[in-house]
Amino acid sequence: MPPKLARRTTEMRPFLAMEVMERAFEMERAGENVIHLEIGEPDFPAHPAAANACIHAIESGETHYTDSRGLSALREAIADDHRRRFGVDVEPERIIVSNGTSPAMLLVFSLLVGEGDEVVLATPHYPCYPNFIRMSGGVPVLVPTDPAAGYAMDVEAVRRALTPRTRAIVVSSPANPTGAVQSEETLRGLASLGIPIISDEIYDGLLYDGAKVTSALQISDDAYVLDGFSKRYAMTGYRLGYAIVPLESVRAIQVMQQNLFISANCFVQHAGVAVLRDQGDALEEMLAAYTRRRRLLIDGLRELGFRLPVEPKGAFYVFADARAFDSDSLRLAFALLERAKVGTTPGIDFGESGEGWLRFAYANSEAAIEAALERLAAVLPTLR
Ligand SMILES: Cc1ncc(COP(=O)(O)O)c(C=O)c1O
Repeated sequence: MPPKLARRTTEMRPFLAMEVMERAFEMERAGENVIHLEIGEPDFPAHPAAANACIHAIESGETHYTDSRGLSALREAIADDHRRRFGVDVEPERIIVSNGTSPAMLLVFSLLVGEGDEVVLATPHYPCYPNFIRMSGGVPVLVPTDPAAGYAMDVEAVRRALTPRTRAIVVSSPANPTGAVQSEETLRGLASLGIPIISDEIYDGLLYDGAKVTSALQISDDAYVLDGFSKRYAMTGYRLGYAIVPLESVRAIQVMQQNLFISANCFVQHAGVAVLRDQGDALEEMLAAYTRRRRLLIDGLRELGFRLPVEPKGAFYVFADARAFDSDSLRLAFALLERAKVGTTPGIDFGESGEGWLRFAYANSEAAIEAALERLAAVLPTLR
């Protein structure tokens, strides 16, 4: 007799980028060559300071629990880093370090969202946000954004979506999958609505065409910033992230962290300190490569017949209208995987408004992107 599973797990939707990747791995195990443009994972090695710091920490016996909020050296380094990037003073006491941004997200949504509470977010959106909200018993309230307007969040539309049950507004800038960057004016407008902002700033630093990110903390203290080391420092597998929260929320988050995770990995936290202290030019080098790849992919996709109403300003994704080939994005992504051996993420992963679109990640080499475009050119005409 199968166990009766809790509704919060049966209602959770699969993360389709992962589903495509897992099928691609299966094909690779069977000897196929697949080009991965589906997953949001930098192909660069982790920041050079990370490995040595981690090894040194392990060899020095830094292998124990830490303060549940994180090592004070790391919280101070994160506060300094936020000041350096945004010119905002943040007390280290407001920072909670976690094993990746995702656990920080779980803590913040769990803190703010109860049964029947609502959270407003833009769509297309990072696939996991609604799942976190629903897991907390909440209801995601989606506000569409328009590619022709650069996916700017419409403050009036957000205002109309507010109800007495609204507990937070999610902002993601630069965003996954659109690469959109929200202007300071939009952030000010959203903050003026008087609802806490949850601001996912994990792609800050990966910016093009002179785009600049405004941190929610530059605008309001009533903000919960989510950030981490996965993208800016190519440290996905280290699992290191953090939340910066209003001072009065720290204690409740600390208690959750004590119970749910105890603390982030000690030696990985030491890697975080080293990376923040020794910025070097790893980010600039990655950015130069991303800039070339972005151009290659945008131009190549347009040539193939994908529609791109706006060019992404940040992150490492191109979100392209694929309806010229198929309006069912899941079917199209799997057809391209099976027939062209190119992994892409179906737009439906990012909400209904993404249906008919595909996300291409340029976290892969120029040679791989060129080869993927060639493979797509051979298969797409057969799909129209
Ligand atoms: C917008 C966004 N937030 C958070 C995350 C999770 O990052 P982490 O690896 O730090 O858990 C991702 C990962 O793709 C993301 O795209």
